[in-house]
Amino acid sequence: MTITLAFDVYGTLIDTHGVISALEKHVGNRATEFSRVWREKQLEYSFRRGLMQNYANFAVCTGNALDYTCAYFKLALSIEEKEELIGVYKLLPAFADVNTGLARAKQAGFRMFAFSNGSAEAVELLLQNAGIADCFLGVVSVDEIKSYKPNPGVYSHFLRRADAVGAETWLISSNPFDVIGAVSFGMRAAWLKRSPEAIFDPWGIEPTLIADSLVSLIEQIGRK
Ligand code: LAC
Repeated sequence: MTITLAFDVYGTLIDTHGVISALEKHVGNRATEFSRVWREKQLEYSFRRGLMQNYANFAVCTGNALDYTCAYFKLALSIEEKEELIGVYKLLPAFADVNTGLARAKQAGFRMFAFSNGSAEAVELLLQNAGIADCFLGVVSVDEIKSYKPNPGVYSHFLRRADAVGAETWLISSNPFDVIGAVSFGMRAAWLKRSPEAIFDPWGIEPTLIADSLVSLIEQIGRK
């Protein structure tokens, strides 16, 4: 049995809060809070666009969410300043455990894909910039079917694109909504608990496994 791994990108491999230092010059010690609202709105906009069947790509959700967050914080940014922040977002860094975790997964012989709400082009750029693009057999983007996680159709699309079956495929994500979506669809899913404060939504749908680092997560999948 060959195990296929679908790695979520934003928040799992790539640190969306890598934008905090660039935000500090605009909002000082409220930069962490700004980053959190920006990310939450970006995801909310993707959920709403999915439900409304009014698709625009993830960069549009990110840009609209930045506009909302500026209004919320009563921050007037010029077009150039917004573009600079979006530029930082396009080159966000990977989390510190990602290189070692991916190397372990590769040694274990897992088939690895990046699987994201981001467009293939945006994800490819992030992975190249973080020096991890070569670890993957490919990038599968929801953009190919113009919908968003956690629509069951996007997990089904992943299996088709990766030529994989649900019982031998794991979603790896730090985003509880993504883990719940994958399990509800019929895939196995590992929750990467990236902070001790992270809360898993109490829906009665549990992750197949939980780990607090990518390395420990890969080791646990290897033992299953
Ligand atoms: C992604 C979202 C969940 O990368 O951030 O798919």
